[in-house]
Amino acid sequence: MNIRSEREIKLMKEAGHINFLAHKEMEKYIKPGITTKELDKKIRDFIVSHGAIPSCYGYEGFPANACICVNDEVVHGIPGNRKLKNGDIVKLDFTVKKSGYESDMTRTYLVGDVDPRIKKMVEDTEQALYEGIKVVKPGARVGDIGYAISKYAHSHGLSVVEELVGHGIGTDMHEDPEVPNYGKKGTGIVLKEGMVIAIEPMLNLGKRNVVLLDNDWTVVTEDGSPSCHFEHTVCVTKDGYEILTGE
Ligand code: MF3
Ligand code: CO
Ligand code: CO
Repeated sequence: MNIRSEREIKLMKEAGHINFLAHKEMEKYIKPGITTKELDKKIRDFIVSHGAIPSCYGYEGFPANACICVNDEVVHGIPGNRKLKNGDIVKLDFTVKKSGYESDMTRTYLVGDVDPRIKKMVEDTEQALYEGIKVVKPGARVGDIGYAISKYAHSHGLSVVEELVGHGIGTDMHEDPEVPNYGKKGTGIVLKEGMVIAIEPMLNLGKRNVVLLDNDWTVVTEDGSPSCHFEHTVCVTKDGYEILTGE
């Protein structure tokens, strides 16, 4: 497990802040009619104009700057000519690298008027992320995070995708440890001051099962139900946590 110095955490916070600002900026463009490819370009332009790198591009051959998923798409959606329409939900998941350090953040956005049940699911998934973040402190365990997230998800009628997990992050986008969105309290790696992890619940309105599409990237729900995803990059501090992908 990598322990990051104060200097490294400061750099990750710079990357994370640009990531946060890019997400904020995208709120302006998420409207019926825009294509996911157009959103991808806006994201790239914003990141580059802030002196940073959209590091998803080319990662294991990924062909775009952001993973963009609509409705039943869970992760790794490839931007294209699909137009957003009223009532959709769209998830923007991208990394920003600056001065050699990564940040990873995801938000789910509403497109126009969304079914109240789906809107509720979006709110509940964001809260599930914060339930996971709240347990982060030195001495807590990775299993405590997954326990908190899955407990909240299940008590709000949502299922937890298990095939994809959060992760350590630093000079690489994906580092140890894995951070599952399920787990038992008191199990798994012990968190220490200076560790940085990406916590990212992916919750479904239907069953938890997912399938991989023929493009070998995009994961969708098997039953076609909507899926929701929020992610922050979080640092373990002396007495708790700090969200690095924030204001
Ligand atoms: N940002 C994703 C995550 O949360 C990873 C994207 S990998 C890519 O871990 F290749 F699709 F960019
Ligand atoms: Co991500
Ligand atoms: Co991630």
